[in-house]
Amino acid sequence: GKYRVVSTKPMPGTRWINLLIEQDCRVEICTRKKTILSVEDIIALIGDKCDGWLSCVYVSVFQLTEDWGETLFSALSRAGGKAFSNMAVGYNNVDVNAANKYGVAVGNTPGVLTETTAELAASLSLSAARRIVEADEFMRAGLYDGWLPNLFVGNLLKGQTVGVIGAGRIGSAYARMMVEGFKMNLIYYDLYQATRLEKFVTGMSVTYAEFLKANGEQPVTWKRAASMDEVLREADVISLHPILDKTTYHLVNKERLAIMKKEAILVNCSRGPVIDEVALVEHLKQNPMFRVGLDVFEDEPYMKPGLADLKNAVVVPHIASASKWTREGMATLAALNVLGKIKGYPVWSDPNRIEPFLNENVPPPA
Ligand code: GLV
Ligand code: GLV
Repeated sequence: GKYRVVSTKPMPGTRWINLLIEQDCRVEICTRKKTILSVEDIIALIGDKCDGWLSCVYVSVFQLTEDWGETLFSALSRAGGKAFSNMAVGYNNVDVNAANKYGVAVGNTPGVLTETTAELAASLSLSAARRIVEADEFMRAGLYDGWLPNLFVGNLLKGQTVGVIGAGRIGSAYARMMVEGFKMNLIYYDLYQATRLEKFVTGMSVTYAEFLKANGEQPVTWKRAASMDEVLREADVISLHPILDKTTYHLVNKERLAIMKKEAILVNCSRGPVIDEVALVEHLKQNPMFRVGLDVFEDEPYMKPGLADLKNAVVVPHIASASKWTREGMATLAALNVLGKIKGYPVWSDPNRIEPFLNENVPPPA
């Protein structure tokens, strides 16, 4: 191969690697089981010649090692590297300004994971609402000895309000599922107006109005909140979909937990540090009717002390994008990001893809 491309991890499927090989790339895959690569490890892997880099997302202080900043982008640039892609939609491990400075294009993999991630947020919402995990444990423990009117009574979603914080691609897809699927009212908070989501919900409330009226029910309502606190105060189920940066670190803290309804459900499929997890554990202890569904953790892969013992928490190991179609799609997109840049033409074909590169329009250094 004329070009050398390094991948931090073996990625799913074969399409991504075949694409690279067919286009004159030699692909080297880091097969180390342990997920952590140090800066020195990466510099050694970059070597004298490296045209592109495929990275997996690293999410917490315990996995900060593949943290792409000045040092790594300058090393990649010195080795002739033009392209970098996360196999992730999140890019909190990448200093995009540093990449710009060294003329390295940075790609991520949005689009293919939108529905998959939203479906997990919906699953966690339902699991928390209907206490699925607790009930499953009860069943397996042989504790079920007859139907009882008050056994695992949970929350009915229909007619309640779903709150979405961060109404981008994933947050909007989740909102649509919850509104359409469960006839929930919507309140969302985002710095930007979610025009398409608003149109969808407006259209839906019109479509369903007749049907609902016939049953003596109200059509769904929606509003864009003026503040995040308004969502926290009013919603019954709240799902967090912001990016992680300085402005969203500990977005949900002790004070904000305190303004939420006592029986609210909180779901997080974004990044762990968006919630102050110590405060959350305390809040869950104090409020047994408050429930959470978590896919991500502040100290991922670890949980804060006490969380694992709480019945009112459903916890899963960062699997929101884990469907075969999506993971293979992410690998393919990541490969196409790198390939497109190396070969100098866009080869991606996903119509959902809005921005091929996060820093596409940045000119290379003189
Ligand atoms: C996974 O967390 C991603 O950002 O895609
Ligand atoms: C419960 O099983 C019912 O029939 O209501």
